[in-house]
Amino acid sequence: MAQSKKEKKVFEDPEYQRMLQLVSEIRLYNDQYYNKGKSDISDSEYDRLFRALEAIEKTHPDWVLPNSPTKEVGAPLKRGFQQVAHRVPMLSLDSLTSEEGVRGFVDRIAKGLGLSDSDQIEFSLEPKFDGVSASLLYDKGKFVQGLTRGDGEVGEDITRNLRFVQKIPDRLVGELVPELVEVRGEVMLSKTRFHEIRKRQEDHGEEPFRNARNAVAGSLKRIHPAGLKSLGMTFHFWGIGDLVGMESLKTYTELAHHFGEFGFLIASELDTGKGAKDIISYHHLLEERRDSIDFEMDGIVAKVNSLADERKLGRTARAPRWALAYKYAPRQGKTRVVEIDVQVGRTGVLTPVAHLDPLDLVGVTIQRASLHNFDWLEQMDIRVGDTV
Ligand code: IVH
Repeated sequence: MAQSKKEKKVFEDPEYQRMLQLVSEIRLYNDQYYNKGKSDISDSEYDRLFRALEAIEKTHPDWVLPNSPTKEVGAPLKRGFQQVAHRVPMLSLDSLTSEEGVRGFVDRIAKGLGLSDSDQIEFSLEPKFDGVSASLLYDKGKFVQGLTRGDGEVGEDITRNLRFVQKIPDRLVGELVPELVEVRGEVMLSKTRFHEIRKRQEDHGEEPFRNARNAVAGSLKRIHPAGLKSLGMTFHFWGIGDLVGMESLKTYTELAHHFGEFGFLIASELDTGKGAKDIISYHHLLEERRDSIDFEMDGIVAKVNSLADERKLGRTARAPRWALAYKYAPRQGKTRVVEIDVQVGRTGVLTPVAHLDPLDLVGVTIQRASLHNFDWLEQMDIRVGDTV
C-alpha cells in the first residue's frame, strides 16, 4: 500500500512527467531521423532535449526507464552508417621496429629515386598518433563529409559525429583554399581528458573506457551525438588524400603548415631530418619525451618530404613506398596479483580491482588494475598469487 502511494506520488511529480514527455519526443525524433531520413528539429535542439533527459535521469537514477533513449547511446548500430568510397584509398604504413629495418627502407628509397647518397633524402618526422583515423572531404573549402578508414577503400560516413570533434574547421579560409581535398588525420582524446573522463565514470559506477583509443572508436560510432562535444576529442592532421589545387606547394611540411593555418592541429613535434640517421635519432628523442606528450603515440612516422619524390616512388598494394612507421616496443611487463577487492561505485555498481606488486613501465608505476566486472574476472580466471 505504502509502495503504491509512493509510486503515485512519483507519477504526479512534474519532473517525472517532463521525463516521460522527453522520452516520447526523443523517440519520435529518433524514428524520424533513423527510419524516415528526416527531422523536424535541428541537431542542437535534439541535443538539448537529450541532455535535459540525461539531467533528470542523473538526479533520479531510480526513475530511469529500462528502454530510455539514453540507454541506447553507444549501443551497436541497428541501421549502420552509410558506406562511402574514399576518393584516394587510405593505405597502411610499413612498420619497422629496428634500426637495420629503417636503414634498409631508406636505401630502397634512394634506389627508387636514383640517388647514390641516401643521407641527402629529406624526411618529415612526426609522431605516429595512436587514435582512430578519419578522412574529411572539403569541397570548395566547405567540410561536407567525414569517413572512417574502413577497409582503406570504403569507409563509413560519420560526418554527424565528427562535427563534435575539435579542430575540424567547418570552412577553410585564407590563401590557396583547394577546390577539393581529403584531409586525413587521427581523432584522439588527450591523456588528460581520458583520465578525467575515466575518473568520472568510476565515480558514477559506470564501466570505464579501457583506453583513449577505444573511447574514441566507440564515440565516433555512437548513434546519438548528444554528449559527444563535451568529451573533447581532437583531430590531428597527418596528411591528405585527393587534392585539387595547391600545386605550388613542394613539400609535406609546407603543406602541413598551410593546413595549420586553416585551423587544423599540426603536431608541435613536426620536424625534418636527413637519411636514416636522423630518423633514428628522432625516434630516440620522442621516446624520451613520450611521457610528457599529452596524447598516446606508438612510434614515429617518416615521410619523404618532397611531394614530387613521393609521386615518383608511388605505392605497393598496401602501403606508400615513401613513408615508414618506426614503432616503439610495446609497454608490457609482468607482475603478481597480491590482493583482489571490490570497489563500489556511486550508483552501487561493483567493480573488482586487483592490487599488484608495483611494476615500473617507462615512467609509470602500476599498482592497481581494474578487473572490469565479475563475468570478465571469471572468464580470465585471475586469482591472488597469479603472475599477470
Ligand atoms: S601517414 C598512406 N602519419 O597509422 C598512409 N599515418 O599504420 C600515410 N597514423 O593509416 C599515413 N599517425 O591511420 C601517417 N603521423 C602519421 C600517423 C599516421 C598515425 C596512422 C594512420 C595510418 C596508420 C598506418
